Amino acid sequence: MYKSYLKKIVSSSVVASVVLLGTACNASNDHDKKVEATKVETKKVETKKAETKATTSNPSVGPAIPDVSDTVKRTYANGKKVIDGGVTYPVVNGKTGSYYVNEKAHKLALNYGRAATPNEIKAWDIDVMPDGTGLPEGSGSVEEGDELYEEKCVSCHGDFGAGSGSYPKLTAGNAYEMQKTLVNQRLNPDDEGPKRVFGSYWPHASTLWWYIKTGMPHTAPMSLTNDEVYALVAYILSINEIKIDGEAVEDDYVLNREKFLKIKMPNRDGFIPKIDGPNGPDNARAFYDDVTNYGNGTRCMKDCFDGEPKVQKIITPISDFSPPLSNEKSLPATPKSTKAEHPGKKVYEKKCSLCHGNDAMGAPVVGNKDAWAKVLKQDKETIYKNAINGKNAMPPRGGTSLSDDEIKQVVDYMIESSK
Ligand code: HEC
Ligand code: HEC
Repeated sequence: MYKSYLKKIVSSSVVASVVLLGTACNASNDHDKKVEATKVETKKVETKKAETKATTSNPSVGPAIPDVSDTVKRTYANGKKVIDGGVTYPVVNGKTGSYYVNEKAHKLALNYGRAATPNEIKAWDIDVMPDGTGLPEGSGSVEEGDELYEEKCVSCHGDFGAGSGSYPKLTAGNAYEMQKTLVNQRLNPDDEGPKRVFGSYWPHASTLWWYIKTGMPHTAPMSLTNDEVYALVAYILSINEIKIDGEAVEDDYVLNREKFLKIKMPNRDGFIPKIDGPNGPDNARAFYDDVTNYGNGTRCMKDCFDGEPKVQKIITPISDFSPPLSNEKSLPATPKSTKAEHPGKKVYEKKCSLCHGNDAMGAPVVGNKDAWAKVLKQDKETIYKNAINGKNAMPPRGGTSLSDDEIKQVVDYMIESSK
Protein backbone atom coordinates (compact mmCIF):
# COMPACT_ATOMS: atom_id res chain seq x y z
CA MET A 1 0.00 0.00 0.00
CA TYR A 2 2.79 2.25 0.94
CA LYS A 3 4.48 1.36 -2.33
CA SER A 4 1.59 2.61 -4.43
CA TYR A 5 1.69 5.89 -2.61
CA LEU A 6 5.40 6.14 -3.38
CA LYS A 7 4.72 5.34 -7.02
CA LYS A 8 2.43 8.28 -7.15
CA ILE A 9 5.06 10.60 -5.79
CA VAL A 10 7.61 9.16 -8.20
CA SER A 11 5.31 9.53 -11.20
CA SER A 12 4.67 13.17 -10.50
CA SER A 13 8.39 13.84 -10.18
CA VAL A 14 8.97 12.02 -13.50
CA VAL A 15 6.62 14.48 -15.14
CA ALA A 16 8.62 17.31 -13.67
CA SER A 17 12.00 15.93 -14.71
CA VAL A 18 10.87 15.20 -18.28
CA VAL A 19 9.85 18.80 -18.69
CA LEU A 20 13.32 19.79 -17.56
CA LEU A 21 14.90 17.27 -19.91
CA GLY A 22 12.98 18.66 -22.86
CA THR A 23 14.31 22.13 -22.38
CA ALA A 24 17.78 21.47 -21.11
CA CYS A 25 18.94 18.44 -23.05
CA ASN A 26 18.84 18.78 -26.85
CA ALA A 27 21.16 15.84 -27.37
CA SER A 28 18.71 13.12 -26.34
CA ASN A 29 17.55 11.12 -29.33
CA ASP A 30 14.03 11.34 -30.62
CA HIS A 31 13.10 7.71 -30.18
CA ASP A 32 14.03 7.69 -26.51
CA LYS A 33 12.08 10.84 -25.99
CA LYS A 34 8.97 9.28 -27.50
CA VAL A 35 9.21 6.22 -25.28
CA GLU A 36 9.69 8.44 -22.23
CA ALA A 37 6.75 10.53 -23.29
CA THR A 38 4.39 7.57 -23.65
CA LYS A 39 5.49 6.23 -20.30
CA VAL A 40 4.80 9.53 -18.72
CA GLU A 41 1.42 9.72 -20.46
CA THR A 42 0.31 6.40 -18.93
CA LYS A 43 1.66 7.38 -15.53
CA LYS A 44 -0.21 10.65 -15.79
CA VAL A 45 -3.43 8.80 -16.45
CA GLU A 46 -2.82 6.53 -13.46
CA THR A 47 -2.22 9.50 -11.27
CA LYS A 48 -5.39 11.14 -12.52
CA LYS A 49 -7.32 7.98 -11.74
CA ALA A 50 -5.99 7.85 -8.24
CA GLU A 51 -6.84 11.46 -7.74
CA THR A 52 -10.39 11.13 -8.97
CA LYS A 53 -10.92 8.12 -6.74
CA ALA A 54 -10.14 10.27 -3.76
CA THR A 55 -13.28 12.15 -3.02
CA THR A 56 -11.80 15.37 -1.75
CA SER A 57 -8.76 17.23 -2.86
CA ASN A 58 -7.06 20.28 -1.58
CA PRO A 59 -5.17 21.92 -4.43
CA SER A 60 -2.94 23.97 -2.15
CA VAL A 61 -1.27 21.00 -0.49
CA GLY A 62 -0.19 18.69 -3.30
CA PRO A 63 -1.57 15.14 -3.45
CA ALA A 64 -5.27 14.73 -2.93
CA ILE A 65 -6.31 13.77 0.56
CA PRO A 66 -8.95 11.07 0.64
CA ASP A 67 -12.06 11.76 2.60
CA VAL A 68 -11.82 9.32 5.44
CA SER A 69 -14.59 10.78 7.52
CA ASP A 70 -16.91 8.14 6.09
CA THR A 71 -15.89 5.04 8.03
CA VAL A 72 -17.77 2.74 5.67
CA LYS A 73 -15.10 3.28 3.04
CA ARG A 74 -12.31 2.04 5.29
CA THR A 75 -10.75 -1.35 4.84
CA TYR A 76 -7.99 -2.84 6.89
CA ALA A 77 -4.99 -4.78 5.57
CA ASN A 78 -5.74 -8.53 5.67
CA GLY A 79 -8.86 -7.64 7.58
CA LYS A 80 -6.60 -6.77 10.51
CA LYS A 81 -5.76 -3.48 12.09
CA VAL A 82 -2.38 -2.06 11.21
CA ILE A 83 -0.69 -1.20 14.45
CA ASP A 84 2.39 0.90 14.81
CA GLY A 85 3.23 2.57 18.08
CA GLY A 86 -0.27 1.89 19.31
CA VAL A 87 -1.99 3.70 16.43
CA THR A 88 -4.28 2.18 13.91
CA TYR A 89 -3.75 3.50 10.43
CA PRO A 90 -6.81 2.93 8.33
CA VAL A 91 -6.28 1.88 4.74
CA VAL A 92 -8.14 3.96 2.20
CA ASN A 93 -8.29 3.08 -1.49
CA GLY A 94 -5.51 0.60 -0.90
CA LYS A 95 -3.28 3.29 0.54
CA THR A 96 -2.22 4.05 4.04
CA GLY A 97 0.34 6.10 5.89
CA SER A 98 0.18 8.29 8.95
CA TYR A 99 0.03 11.46 6.92
CA TYR A 100 -1.95 10.18 4.00
CA VAL A 101 -4.97 9.56 6.17
CA ASN A 102 -4.34 12.33 8.58
CA GLU A 103 -7.92 13.04 9.56
CA LYS A 104 -7.24 15.76 12.07
CA ALA A 105 -4.81 17.59 9.86
CA HIS A 106 -7.33 17.35 7.05
CA LYS A 107 -10.09 18.86 9.11
CA LEU A 108 -7.87 21.68 10.29
CA ALA A 109 -6.48 22.13 6.77
CA LEU A 110 -2.98 21.82 8.24
CA ASN A 111 -1.08 19.02 6.63
CA TYR A 112 1.83 18.41 8.88
CA GLY A 113 1.64 16.79 12.27
CA ARG A 114 -1.34 16.05 14.44
CA ALA A 115 -2.04 15.63 18.12
CA ALA A 116 -0.72 12.34 19.51
CA THR A 117 -3.51 9.87 20.14
CA PRO A 118 -4.02 8.46 23.65
CA ASN A 119 -2.71 5.12 22.32
CA GLU A 120 0.44 6.68 21.00
CA ILE A 121 1.05 8.45 24.27
CA LYS A 122 0.47 5.17 26.07
CA ALA A 123 3.07 3.47 23.91
CA TRP A 124 5.70 6.01 24.96
CA ASP A 125 4.60 6.62 28.52
CA ILE A 126 6.33 3.63 30.07
CA ASP A 127 7.67 5.14 33.27
CA VAL A 128 7.60 3.02 36.37
CA MET A 129 7.11 5.24 39.40
CA PRO A 130 8.03 4.59 43.05
CA ASP A 131 4.34 4.39 43.96
CA GLY A 132 3.83 1.52 41.49
CA THR A 133 2.33 3.57 38.67
CA GLY A 134 3.28 1.88 35.41
CA LEU A 135 4.51 -1.30 37.07
CA PRO A 136 2.82 -4.25 35.33
CA GLU A 137 1.82 -7.57 36.86
CA GLY A 138 4.28 -10.42 36.41
CA SER A 139 6.68 -12.62 38.31
CA GLY A 140 10.08 -14.22 38.14
CA SER A 141 12.44 -16.03 40.50
CA VAL A 142 16.02 -15.34 41.46
CA GLU A 143 17.01 -18.64 39.80
CA GLU A 144 15.41 -17.67 36.51
CA GLY A 145 17.03 -14.28 36.81
CA ASP A 146 20.41 -15.89 37.39
CA GLU A 147 20.06 -17.88 34.16
CA LEU A 148 18.95 -14.86 32.17
CA TYR A 149 21.79 -12.85 33.66
CA GLU A 150 24.34 -15.44 32.55
CA GLU A 151 22.86 -15.40 29.08
CA LYS A 152 22.22 -11.70 28.50
CA CYS A 153 24.07 -9.54 30.97
CA VAL A 154 27.23 -11.18 32.26
CA SER A 155 29.30 -10.21 29.21
CA CYS A 156 29.13 -6.56 30.22
CA HIS A 157 28.27 -6.49 33.92
CA GLY A 158 30.62 -9.27 35.02
CA ASP A 159 30.16 -12.29 37.29
CA PHE A 160 27.58 -11.66 40.01
CA GLY A 161 27.22 -8.03 38.90
CA ALA A 162 30.80 -7.20 39.88
CA GLY A 163 31.21 -5.03 36.78
CA SER A 164 33.84 -5.43 34.10
CA GLY A 165 36.03 -2.72 32.67
CA SER A 166 34.05 0.47 32.46
CA TYR A 167 30.67 -1.29 32.55
CA PRO A 168 28.80 -0.46 35.74
CA LYS A 169 28.78 -2.68 38.80
CA LEU A 170 25.30 -3.83 39.71
CA THR A 171 26.31 -4.49 43.33
CA ALA A 172 29.03 -3.59 45.77
CA GLY A 173 28.08 -6.28 48.25
CA ASN A 174 25.59 -6.04 51.09
CA ALA A 175 23.57 -2.91 50.33
CA TYR A 176 22.86 -2.16 53.99
CA GLU A 177 26.53 -2.25 54.94
CA MET A 178 27.57 -0.21 51.92
CA GLN A 179 24.97 2.45 52.46
CA LYS A 180 25.72 5.69 54.25
CA THR A 181 23.41 8.56 53.53
CA LEU A 182 24.63 11.51 51.53
CA VAL A 183 24.21 13.77 54.58
CA ASN A 184 26.46 11.56 56.66
CA GLN A 185 29.03 11.64 53.95
CA ARG A 186 29.15 15.41 53.83
CA LEU A 187 29.38 15.82 57.56
CA ASN A 188 31.92 13.08 58.02
CA PRO A 189 33.87 13.08 54.79
CA ASP A 190 36.21 10.45 56.19
CA ASP A 191 33.33 8.01 56.45
CA GLU A 192 32.78 5.84 53.46
CA GLY A 193 29.99 7.30 51.36
CA PRO A 194 27.26 5.28 49.73
CA LYS A 195 28.73 3.18 46.94
CA ARG A 196 27.17 4.47 43.78
CA VAL A 197 25.57 1.25 42.77
CA PHE A 198 21.93 0.22 42.69
CA GLY A 199 21.75 -1.49 46.08
CA SER A 200 23.30 1.09 48.33
CA TYR A 201 22.68 4.31 46.42
CA TRP A 202 19.46 4.28 44.44
CA PRO A 203 16.49 5.54 46.48
CA HIS A 204 13.81 3.59 44.59
CA ALA A 205 13.73 0.05 43.21
CA SER A 206 11.22 1.17 40.57
CA THR A 207 14.09 2.83 38.69
CA LEU A 208 15.80 -0.55 38.37
CA TRP A 209 12.68 -2.21 36.98
CA TRP A 210 12.16 0.57 34.47
CA TYR A 211 15.85 0.78 33.54
CA ILE A 212 16.11 -2.91 32.71
CA LYS A 213 12.79 -3.00 30.89
CA THR A 214 13.52 -0.01 28.68
CA GLY A 215 17.30 0.03 28.38
CA MET A 216 18.83 -3.41 28.85
CA PRO A 217 20.46 -5.47 27.51
CA HIS A 218 22.30 -2.55 26.02
CA THR A 219 22.37 -4.14 22.57
CA ALA A 220 18.68 -5.13 22.51
CA PRO A 221 16.64 -2.78 24.69
CA MET A 222 12.90 -3.48 25.09
CA SER A 223 13.45 -7.15 24.23
CA LEU A 224 12.70 -8.58 27.69
CA THR A 225 9.25 -9.72 28.81
CA ASN A 226 7.79 -8.41 32.06
CA ASP A 227 8.39 -11.79 33.74
CA GLU A 228 12.02 -11.74 32.62
CA VAL A 229 12.43 -8.26 34.06
CA TYR A 230 10.95 -9.42 37.40
CA ALA A 231 13.40 -12.36 37.39
CA LEU A 232 16.41 -10.13 36.62
CA VAL A 233 15.35 -7.60 39.28
CA ALA A 234 14.98 -10.47 41.78
CA TYR A 235 18.50 -11.63 40.92
CA ILE A 236 19.96 -8.13 41.27
CA LEU A 237 18.18 -7.67 44.62
CA SER A 238 19.70 -10.97 45.76
CA ILE A 239 23.27 -10.06 44.83
CA ASN A 240 22.76 -6.80 46.73
CA GLU A 241 21.45 -8.81 49.71
CA ILE A 242 18.36 -6.64 49.90
CA LYS A 243 15.55 -7.92 52.11
CA ILE A 244 11.88 -7.56 51.23
CA ASP A 245 9.60 -7.21 54.23
CA GLY A 246 12.35 -8.69 56.40
CA GLU A 247 12.77 -11.70 54.13
CA ALA A 248 16.08 -12.47 52.41
CA VAL A 249 15.83 -12.77 48.63
CA GLU A 250 17.23 -16.30 48.16
CA ASP A 251 17.52 -18.48 45.05
CA ASP A 252 13.95 -19.77 45.18
CA TYR A 253 12.44 -16.36 45.93
CA VAL A 254 9.73 -15.45 43.44
CA LEU A 255 9.31 -11.73 42.97
CA ASN A 256 6.01 -10.29 41.82
CA ARG A 257 4.36 -6.87 41.69
CA GLU A 258 2.94 -7.06 45.18
CA LYS A 259 6.25 -8.01 46.78
CA PHE A 260 8.12 -5.53 44.61
CA LEU A 261 6.09 -2.66 46.04
CA LYS A 262 7.26 -3.60 49.54
CA ILE A 263 10.93 -3.04 48.72
CA LYS A 264 12.47 -0.28 50.83
CA MET A 265 15.83 0.78 49.46
CA PRO A 266 18.43 1.52 52.16
CA ASN A 267 19.30 4.96 50.76
CA ARG A 268 15.68 6.09 50.24
CA ASP A 269 16.10 8.99 52.70
CA GLY A 270 19.59 9.89 51.59
CA PHE A 271 18.42 12.48 49.10
CA ILE A 272 17.10 15.63 50.78
CA PRO A 273 15.36 17.97 51.11
CA LYS A 274 12.15 16.15 50.35
CA ILE A 275 10.52 18.81 48.25
CA ASP A 276 7.51 16.81 47.09
CA GLY A 277 4.18 16.68 48.85
CA PRO A 278 2.33 19.10 51.10
CA ASN A 279 5.27 19.48 53.52
CA GLY A 280 7.68 20.25 50.70
CA PRO A 281 8.14 23.98 51.38
CA ASP A 282 8.51 23.39 55.14
CA ASN A 283 11.03 20.63 54.51
CA ALA A 284 13.00 22.89 52.17
CA ARG A 285 13.00 25.67 54.78
CA ALA A 286 14.11 23.34 57.57
CA PHE A 287 16.79 21.96 55.27
CA TYR A 288 18.25 25.35 54.42
CA ASP A 289 17.98 26.54 58.04
CA ASP A 290 20.54 23.92 58.96
CA VAL A 291 23.76 24.86 57.19
CA THR A 292 25.28 21.49 57.97
CA ASN A 293 22.93 20.06 55.37
CA TYR A 294 24.85 21.55 52.51
CA GLY A 295 28.31 22.15 53.91
CA ASN A 296 30.38 21.27 56.87
CA GLY A 297 29.05 24.11 59.03
CA THR A 298 30.52 27.19 57.40
CA ARG A 299 29.11 28.77 54.31
CA CYS A 300 31.57 29.70 51.64
CA MET A 301 30.33 31.05 48.34
CA LYS A 302 33.42 32.68 46.90
CA ASP A 303 37.19 32.85 47.40
CA CYS A 304 37.02 29.83 49.65
CA PHE A 305 40.69 28.97 49.26
CA ASP A 306 43.21 30.04 51.83
CA GLY A 307 46.26 31.01 49.87
CA GLU A 308 46.88 29.71 46.37
CA PRO A 309 44.49 27.16 44.89
CA LYS A 310 46.15 23.90 43.98
CA VAL A 311 47.25 23.79 40.36
CA GLN A 312 46.05 20.74 38.48
CA LYS A 313 48.58 19.09 36.21
CA ILE A 314 47.45 17.37 33.06
CA ILE A 315 48.69 13.80 33.35
CA THR A 316 49.62 13.19 29.74
CA PRO A 317 50.24 16.55 28.10
CA ILE A 318 50.24 16.68 24.32
CA SER A 319 53.94 16.86 23.46
CA ASP A 320 54.31 17.58 19.76
CA PHE A 321 53.11 21.16 19.75
CA SER A 322 55.16 24.11 18.73
CA PRO A 323 55.29 26.28 20.72
CA PRO A 324 54.71 23.67 23.45
CA LEU A 325 51.44 23.81 25.37
CA SER A 326 51.53 24.61 29.02
CA ASN A 327 50.56 21.75 31.27
CA GLU A 328 49.40 24.07 34.02
CA LYS A 329 45.85 25.24 34.32
CA SER A 330 46.38 28.62 35.93
CA LEU A 331 43.45 30.73 36.97
CA PRO A 332 43.27 34.22 35.48
CA ALA A 333 44.26 36.96 37.89
CA THR A 334 41.28 38.64 39.50
CA PRO A 335 41.28 42.38 38.84
CA LYS A 336 41.31 44.43 42.01
CA SER A 337 38.30 46.70 42.21
CA THR A 338 38.92 50.30 43.13
CA LYS A 339 35.28 51.05 43.86
CA ALA A 340 34.21 51.02 47.48
CA GLU A 341 32.36 47.80 48.24
CA HIS A 342 28.61 47.93 48.85
CA PRO A 343 27.93 47.13 52.51
CA GLY A 344 25.42 44.44 51.51
CA LYS A 345 27.78 42.58 49.18
CA LYS A 346 29.59 40.38 51.68
CA VAL A 347 26.39 39.28 53.37
CA TYR A 348 24.79 38.61 49.99
CA GLU A 349 27.64 36.36 48.94
CA LYS A 350 27.63 34.49 52.22
CA LYS A 351 23.91 34.09 52.78
CA CYS A 352 21.93 34.61 49.60
CA SER A 353 24.06 33.78 46.55
CA LEU A 354 23.50 30.07 47.06
CA CYS A 355 20.06 30.57 45.55
CA HIS A 356 20.35 33.98 43.91
CA GLY A 357 23.62 33.23 42.12
CA ASN A 358 21.87 31.04 39.54
CA ASP A 359 18.33 30.25 38.53
CA ALA A 360 18.31 26.63 39.64
CA MET A 361 16.01 27.43 42.56
CA GLY A 362 13.82 29.83 40.61
CA ALA A 363 15.22 32.82 42.50
CA PRO A 364 15.71 36.09 40.58
CA VAL A 365 19.40 35.96 39.68
CA VAL A 366 21.39 38.94 40.88
CA GLY A 367 22.74 40.70 37.80
CA ASN A 368 19.84 39.57 35.62
CA LYS A 369 18.10 42.79 34.67
CA ASP A 370 14.94 41.16 33.33
CA ALA A 371 14.43 39.02 36.39
CA TRP A 372 14.77 42.01 38.69
CA ALA A 373 12.72 44.31 36.49
CA LYS A 374 9.85 41.96 37.31
CA VAL A 375 10.59 42.12 41.04
CA LEU A 376 10.85 45.90 40.85
CA LYS A 377 7.33 46.21 39.51
CA GLN A 378 6.41 46.03 43.17
CA ASP A 379 7.20 48.90 45.50
CA LYS A 380 10.33 48.62 47.59
CA GLU A 381 8.50 48.09 50.88
CA THR A 382 6.78 44.99 49.41
CA ILE A 383 10.11 43.63 48.21
CA TYR A 384 11.66 44.16 51.66
CA LYS A 385 8.63 42.53 53.22
CA ASN A 386 8.87 39.51 50.90
CA ALA A 387 12.57 39.12 51.67
CA ILE A 388 11.81 39.26 55.42
CA ASN A 389 8.68 37.11 55.50
CA GLY A 390 9.53 34.79 52.64
CA LYS A 391 7.70 34.19 49.39
CA ASN A 392 7.06 30.78 47.81
CA ALA A 393 10.43 28.98 47.69
CA MET A 394 12.17 32.04 49.16
CA PRO A 395 12.55 31.22 52.88
CA PRO A 396 11.95 34.00 55.43
CA ARG A 397 15.16 36.09 55.65
CA GLY A 398 16.71 33.67 53.17
CA GLY A 399 16.97 31.15 55.98
CA THR A 400 19.17 33.47 58.08
CA SER A 401 18.75 35.34 61.35
CA LEU A 402 19.70 38.72 59.89
CA SER A 403 17.88 41.77 61.28
CA ASP A 404 15.34 43.71 59.21
CA ASP A 405 17.87 46.45 58.55
CA GLU A 406 20.55 44.01 57.47
CA ILE A 407 18.12 42.29 55.10
CA LYS A 408 17.13 45.65 53.59
CA GLN A 409 20.78 46.48 53.02
CA VAL A 410 21.34 43.19 51.21
CA VAL A 411 18.19 43.67 49.14
CA ASP A 412 19.45 47.15 48.20
CA TYR A 413 22.70 45.58 47.07
CA MET A 414 20.88 42.94 45.05
CA ILE A 415 18.72 45.58 43.34
CA GLU A 416 21.66 47.86 42.62
CA SER A 417 23.67 45.01 41.13
CA SER A 418 20.81 44.07 38.85
CA LYS A 419 20.13 47.37 37.13
C1 HEC B 1 26.59 -4.77 25.73
C2 HEC B 1 26.81 -4.43 27.09
C3 HEC B 1 25.68 -4.58 28.10
C4 HEC B 1 24.84 -5.65 28.28
C5 HEC B 1 24.82 -6.96 27.53
C6 HEC B 1 23.99 -5.28 29.39
N1 HEC B 1 24.30 -4.03 29.85
FE1 HEC B 1 23.46 -3.10 31.44
N2 HEC B 1 24.62 -1.46 31.09
C7 HEC B 1 25.53 -1.34 30.08
C8 HEC B 1 26.06 0.01 30.08
C9 HEC B 1 27.10 0.57 29.11
C10 HEC B 1 25.43 0.70 31.13
C11 HEC B 1 25.61 2.15 31.55
C12 HEC B 1 24.72 2.96 30.67
C13 HEC B 1 24.79 4.41 31.03
O1 HEC B 1 25.24 4.75 32.12
O2 HEC B 1 24.36 5.19 30.19
C14 HEC B 1 24.55 -0.26 31.76
C15 HEC B 1 23.77 0.01 32.86
C16 HEC B 1 22.97 -0.91 33.51
C17 HEC B 1 22.29 -0.66 34.75
C18 HEC B 1 22.36 0.62 35.56
C19 HEC B 1 23.58 0.56 36.44
C20 HEC B 1 23.85 1.85 37.18
O3 HEC B 1 24.20 1.76 38.37
O4 HEC B 1 23.75 2.92 36.57
C21 HEC B 1 21.58 -1.79 35.04
C22 HEC B 1 20.71 -2.00 36.26
C23 HEC B 1 21.83 -2.73 33.98
N3 HEC B 1 22.69 -2.17 33.07
C24 HEC B 1 21.28 -4.00 33.92
C25 HEC B 1 21.50 -4.89 32.89
C26 HEC B 1 20.84 -6.17 32.76
C27 HEC B 1 19.84 -6.72 33.74
C28 HEC B 1 21.31 -6.75 31.62
C29 HEC B 1 20.90 -8.07 31.02
C30 HEC B 1 19.53 -8.20 30.67
C31 HEC B 1 22.29 -5.84 31.04
N4 HEC B 1 22.36 -4.72 31.83
C32 HEC B 1 23.01 -6.12 29.89
C33 HEC B 1 25.93 -2.33 29.20
C34 HEC B 1 25.33 -3.56 29.07
C1 HEC C 1 16.78 28.77 49.58
C2 HEC C 1 17.00 29.64 48.47
C3 HEC C 1 17.05 31.15 48.75
C4 HEC C 1 17.90 31.83 49.60
C5 HEC C 1 18.99 31.24 50.49
C6 HEC C 1 17.57 33.21 49.44
N1 HEC C 1 16.56 33.38 48.53
FE1 HEC C 1 15.66 35.12 48.02
N2 HEC C 1 14.43 34.14 46.73
C7 HEC C 1 14.43 32.78 46.54
C8 HEC C 1 13.41 32.44 45.59
C9 HEC C 1 13.09 31.03 45.05
C10 HEC C 1 12.79 33.66 45.22
C11 HEC C 1 11.65 33.84 44.23
C12 HEC C 1 10.35 33.80 45.01
C13 HEC C 1 9.17 33.97 44.08
O1 HEC C 1 9.03 35.05 43.51
O2 HEC C 1 8.42 33.00 43.98
C14 HEC C 1 13.46 34.69 45.96
C15 HEC C 1 13.13 36.03 45.88
C16 HEC C 1 13.76 37.03 46.58
C17 HEC C 1 13.47 38.44 46.46
C18 HEC C 1 12.40 39.03 45.57
C19 HEC C 1 11.10 39.03 46.34
C20 HEC C 1 9.95 39.56 45.52
O3 HEC C 1 9.24 40.38 46.06
O4 HEC C 1 9.78 39.10 44.39
C21 HEC C 1 14.31 39.11 47.30
C22 HEC C 1 14.38 40.59 47.51
C23 HEC C 1 15.14 38.13 47.94
N3 HEC C 1 14.78 36.87 47.47
C24 HEC C 1 16.13 38.42 48.86
C25 HEC C 1 16.95 37.47 49.46
C26 HEC C 1 17.95 37.78 50.42
C27 HEC C 1 18.26 39.16 50.92
C28 HEC C 1 18.54 36.61 50.77
C29 HEC C 1 19.67 36.39 51.75
C30 HEC C 1 19.55 36.95 53.04
C31 HEC C 1 17.88 35.56 50.03
N4 HEC C 1 16.93 36.12 49.24
C32 HEC C 1 18.21 34.22 50.11
C33 HEC C 1 15.26 31.84 47.13
C34 HEC C 1 16.22 32.14 48.09
